[in-house]
Amino acid sequence: MQDEGKGSRQGRVLVVVTGCIAAYKAAEVLRGLQKAGCDVRVAMTEHATEFVGPITFEALSGHPVVTDLFRASTPIPHIELTDWAELVCVVPATANFLAKMAAGIADDAASTTVLAAGCPVLVAPAMNVRMWSNPQTQANLDILRSSGVDVVMPVAGRLACGAEGEGKLASVEQVVAAALETLRPEPDLSGRAFLVTAGPTHEAIDPVRFLANASSGKMGYAIAAAAARHGARVVLVSGPTALACPPGVDRVDVTSAAEMLEASKAAFASADCAILAAAVADYTPAHPADHKLKKDAEPLGSIELVQTADILRTLSAEKGGRVVIGFAAETGDAVAKAQAKLARKGCDLIVANDVSREDSAFGSDTDAVTFVSPEGAEPLPTLAKPQVAERLIARAATLLEA
Ligand code: CTP
Repeated sequence: MQDEGKGSRQGRVLVVVTGCIAAYKAAEVLRGLQKAGCDVRVAMTEHATEFVGPITFEALSGHPVVTDLFRASTPIPHIELTDWAELVCVVPATANFLAKMAAGIADDAASTTVLAAGCPVLVAPAMNVRMWSNPQTQANLDILRSSGVDVVMPVAGRLACGAEGEGKLASVEQVVAAALETLRPEPDLSGRAFLVTAGPTHEAIDPVRFLANASSGKMGYAIAAAAARHGARVVLVSGPTALACPPGVDRVDVTSAAEMLEASKAAFASADCAILAAAVADYTPAHPADHKLKKDAEPLGSIELVQTADILRTLSAEKGGRVVIGFAAETGDAVAKAQAKLARKGCDLIVANDVSREDSAFGSDTDAVTFVSPEGAEPLPTLAKPQVAERLIARAATLLEA
């Protein structure tokens, strides 16, 4: 395996070749990716091998080519390959293969591998113009786009079948550029270290009961994923959530606000930027019981609470030249409250979020946020959380450069 560092556009790319006359172009794409510093492996459908022999890709990539799940050099090739890959690039992608991807069909080595991918997936379709414009193909592409697959659009031109029209594979340069952008999108955060906090905290009343809040952790996880995709080293300090750790992220699980403070301070020691998206409990029971409280023997009329340490304020006070970003979840007057919070907490930016709005509620998949900084307020449209995360990472990169 080549250098896994994130300093340049290096990366590990799995090229999946499907059965189309443009299959030979996949060899040039492979070369282009290698020239950019990527290590490339190849999986092929059986039909693809009718157009170009696997030996071509084996020689070019320097790795065995996977064409058959049962006759591969490793016992579980689809998992081994997708554990390894940072990007899966289907080039050329036939109408049939796109349809299988959209339906989640895994009936050969190539489709099984794509279904198992935990990394970004890029497809570069190539097919006859009528197959391309068929509403079924377009519907399949919509499904793929909505599940986060990037598409390098085919171009118009003379097709192999003699017809003129859209369906020609995009140029090798376009496919390589799109792959590199998906692999290491701008801004390039390689060499930077991020701390991200996410989720709620649980404050123990006794060993089986706790005080918590409705945070899902989705926003913080999306931020951690975006920072990692841009090449940053990311420590995600997470309260209890049901979410999977994003690829390339180092997660530290915590339960209480006190644990989150300690883990955050430890990670911040080597971070350039902290983005604190966790909904940390402001109060914790002063005297948590060390045994389960019994309602008859020890009736609980009230719980004495004490304030937790403010992690955002603590890190901001010691940030020096580093960047610290906080969130403000408010119900009404979010921007004004965030402006006050910015001054009070001493951070560089607050992401103001009015959680009383339906499109911005706790647990929702979208947010309508405003970036509040000493320079002013920048409202964003309602966006899916991963898109908000992308915008925030771009803003964090600007602050890091400043
Ligand atoms: N935060 C934190 N530590 C806490 C409480 C909050 O780091 N103990 C962080 C959150 O991660 C978020 C920001 O502070 O980035 C805003 O949290 P919020 O609960 O909205 O603010 P509060 O400080 O609790 O202020 P208020 O109760 O007035 O809303």
